[in-house]
Amino acid sequence: MDGVIVVEHPLVQHKLTLMRNAKRSTKGFRQLLNEIGMLLCYEVTRDLPLELIEIETPLARMMAPQIAGKKLVFAPILRAGAGFLDGMLDLVPSARVAHIGLYRDPATLQAVQYYFKAPADLADRLVIVMDPMLATANSACAAVKGLKDRGAKEIRFVCLLAAPEGIAKLRREHTDVRLWTAAIDDHLNDHGYIVPGLGDAGDRMFGTK
Ligand code: PRP
Ligand code: URA
Repeated sequence: MDGVIVVEHPLVQHKLTLMRNAKRSTKGFRQLLNEIGMLLCYEVTRDLPLELIEIETPLARMMAPQIAGKKLVFAPILRAGAGFLDGMLDLVPSARVAHIGLYRDPATLQAVQYYFKAPADLADRLVIVMDPMLATANSACAAVKGLKDRGAKEIRFVCLLAAPEGIAKLRREHTDVRLWTAAIDDHLNDHGYIVPGLGDAGDRMFGTK
């Protein structure tokens, strides 16, 4: 599928299976999300451009690679996206963070914004939006639009589970945004939940249900 990368790494797949299990504890769910966040971060940054800089080792001078350009921006969609953040920051500690507060209205499934705080210079940075669940994609599209309205030009989206309906909408509305996911599930149910899915990611992560 064009612009969609399914991360098939065995560690990611194994941890995702553990998370899907309805018996997994809140603590276990949160820990696994953090660990998968780190692994997905590795994949989504795989093709970042490098530049050569001159350094001096204890033995000699050499030209060595470093990541080119300005620091990345990690943009978690609250609440559940926050579960990815620590794992990603462990790998890229100098990244900037844009917090995007959205919730889904349960009746309309539309995304309702309650918070948006992003670095001012988004135009010069790669922005990685993160949310475990891409269901209708209303939240993802609202987040991407909000970032573009604030100047972002290069955006990638990382999730754990995606529904075919959500992938189609995100790719249709934002063809420039590539998407990384650990799995593409079967369908959305009448309440907009991913099936087989893993339930409500925010509730399972924070123990709110
Ligand atoms: C969940 C999830 C996504 C959204 C996905 O958040 O974390 O943000 O639903 O659904 P969509 O693709 O249909 O928009 P929710 O609205 O439940 O908020 P929460 O993270 O605060 O629990
Ligand atoms: N949000 C979730 O947390 N889970 C779903 O299955 C769909 C939206």
